[in-house]
Amino acid sequence: MIATETQHLLFDSARLERLLGNAVVDAGATMAAGLVVLGSRLGLYAALDDGPLTTAELAERTGTAERYVREWARAQAAGGYLTYHADSDRFGLSPEQSLVFDPEGPVNAAAMFELSVNVLSGLDRLENGMRTGAGRGWHDQSDDVVCGTAGFYAAGYRTYLLTDWIPALDGVSERLRAGARVADVGCGHGVTTVLLAKSFPASTFHGFNYHAASIARARDAADDAGVADRVTFETRDAADIPALGYDLVCTFDALHDYGDPFAAARRVRESLVPGGSWMIVEPRTGDSVTDNLNPVGRMFYSGSTYMCVPNALDQGGSALGAQAGEAALRELLTAAGFGDVRVAAKTQFNMVLQARP
Ligand SMILES: C[S@@+](CC[C@H](N)C(=O)[O-])C[C@H]1O[C@@H](n2cnc3c(N)ncnc32)[C@H](O)[C@@H]1O
Repeated sequence: MIATETQHLLFDSARLERLLGNAVVDAGATMAAGLVVLGSRLGLYAALDDGPLTTAELAERTGTAERYVREWARAQAAGGYLTYHADSDRFGLSPEQSLVFDPEGPVNAAAMFELSVNVLSGLDRLENGMRTGAGRGWHDQSDDVVCGTAGFYAAGYRTYLLTDWIPALDGVSERLRAGARVADVGCGHGVTTVLLAKSFPASTFHGFNYHAASIARARDAADDAGVADRVTFETRDAADIPALGYDLVCTFDALHDYGDPFAAARRVRESLVPGGSWMIVEPRTGDSVTDNLNPVGRMFYSGSTYMCVPNALDQGGSALGAQAGEAALRELLTAAGFGDVRVAAKTQFNMVLQARP
C-alpha cells in the first residue's frame, strides 16, 4: 500500500513512530522467543545463576559453541533478559531475571516461550481453520503444544493453588483436610490433581479429560508422585463425568475450551453433594473487549485463537473464548443452576470463581 500525499498529511508522526517501534519490538520478540527456549534447553540461564560469565566461560560451562552463545547472549541482553556488564564483557542475571527464568518459580518464562514457539507450527492448520471455520481439537494438536500448555500453566498452579486459591474458597479447605471427594474436570496432564492429592492425603481425586493421551500422562504423574492409590483418571467428556457426589469439582483453564460449557456446568451441578462447590479457574479478564486490550489480553486472545476456540469449534460449540469474562461466566453458571457465584481470588493471569447451587 503506497501512502498518498494527502494520507501523509494525516499521519501523526509521533503515533506512527510508536507504532513502528512496537512492530520492531514484536518482530524481534518473535525471533527471540526461540532463543529463550534454546537458552533454557541448553542450560544457559541456569549456568548464569551463579554469577556473570563471559560468553567463553558460559560456552565452556554448558558444552556449547562460543560463537553462537555470544550472539545469543547479545540478543538476550538487547531484549532485557540478560544484564550486560560492559566493563568485564560478562553477561549475568539480575535477581528479577533469575526469578523469571527459574523453572520452579512463579512465572517460568521459558515454558511460556516454549508454548509460544510451539503454536507457530500450527499456522497452516489455523489458516485453513480461519478460511473454512474448521475446528482443531486438543487431541489433534502436536504433543509439543499439549505439553507446552501443561508446562506454561503449571508454574501458576504451583505458586497459587494451595496457598491462595483453595484457602480463598468458602469452607473448602476444611472439607479437603477432613476427607473429600474431588473431581478435576479437563485435568490435562493431572498437574493440579496431583498437587491437590499430595496436599490433602485424606481426600480422593478423580481426574477427567476427553483426550486419552493426556489421561495416560496424568496417570503416570500420579504414579510418579506416589498418590495413585487415591487418584483415578478417566477419559470422559466434561458433560459426561460420572456423578459420584463430589464435595469439590475443579476446572482449571478448561471451561472455555469445552464445546458445550453449559452441558458441562449442568453435569457438575448434578454431581455435587449438598454444600459442594465448583472451583473454576479461568484467565483473568475484563468483561469488555476494551478491558482486555493490554499485554495479558493479547497473550490470551492469541492463545485462544490457536488452541481454545479451535477446540470448542471442533466439538460443535460456538466457543466462549479464553476471555469470556466474569459476566458471561456468571450468566452461564446461573442458567446451569448455580445460585451463588463469587470471585474468590485473582492473580495476574487468572481469576478463580466459586460456584454453588
Ligand atoms: C488449556 S488445557 C488445561 C488443562 C489443565 N486443566 C491444565 O490447567 O493444565 C484445556 C484442557 O481441556 C480439555 N478439554 C477440552 N475439551 C474438553 C471436553 N469437552 N471435556 C473434557 N476435557 C476437555 C483439553 O483436552 C485440555 O486438556
